[in-house]
Amino acid sequence: MKHSFLEALENRRSYYSIGAAMSVSQQDIVKTIDRIMLATPSAYNSQSSRVVILFGIHHICLWGIVKQTLAKIVTPEAFIGTREKIDNCFAAGCGTILFYEDMKVVEQMKVDFATYADKFDTYAEHTSAMHQLAIWTALEDMGFGATLQHYNPLIDTQVAEQWNIDKSWRLIAQMPFGTPLTTPGTKAQHLPLNERRLVFSD
Ligand SMILES: Cc1cc2nc3c(=O)[nH]c(=O)nc-3n(C[C@H](O)[C@H](O)[C@H](O)COP(=O)(O)O)c2cc1C
Repeated sequence: MKHSFLEALENRRSYYSIGAAMSVSQQDIVKTIDRIMLATPSAYNSQSSRVVILFGIHHICLWGIVKQTLAKIVTPEAFIGTREKIDNCFAAGCGTILFYEDMKVVEQMKVDFATYADKFDTYAEHTSAMHQLAIWTALEDMGFGATLQHYNPLIDTQVAEQWNIDKSWRLIAQMPFGTPLTTPGTKAQHLPLNERRLVFSD
């Protein structure tokens, strides 16, 4: 990593203006994501998280699916803005990571740890979020800009058909990334930490 863990976490932002140039090879991106998959914790070590990494035409195809899907449910007037956002903020990048949870694994956890069965759907969301933040931060550290999107469940069926995704995988989030073309604005006022954090010490 170029930065310390804390620096990388602090640098991570949502980038809505991205380009397709790649300063890091696809192979190196995959290697980094592989390391994250191995290092990131999961509830009861379930290892239920799955990612699908789409580069090039596959990435473009995904955002085409999103546009086709949304065109059917929003008005033609509203779709003009939708299309513009998808083309400029997401499809314009060089790749997208799809985050899934393997529900076959999650269902088995419910059987194996029956006392906590009602918790495992929530734990799966937590586990996915851990992977999302780690990958988002790593992409930033590699010089990319990313955002986190949620066009699921609208796109689930078509995406699963397009890439022959296992039926037990549930789509959780989409993370388009690319070369940052602009710097995100200053973050909105932070809530005071003394309202968000309690410390008890001697
Ligand atoms: C759980 C979660 C869900 C989010 N969903 C979306 C989303 O659907 N679309 C989007 O544009 N941004 C989404 N975001 C991004 C947040 O809006 C963004 O991280 C927040 O405003 C702080 O800005 P920053 O990422 O630049 O630090 C999501 C972030 C989190 C943590």
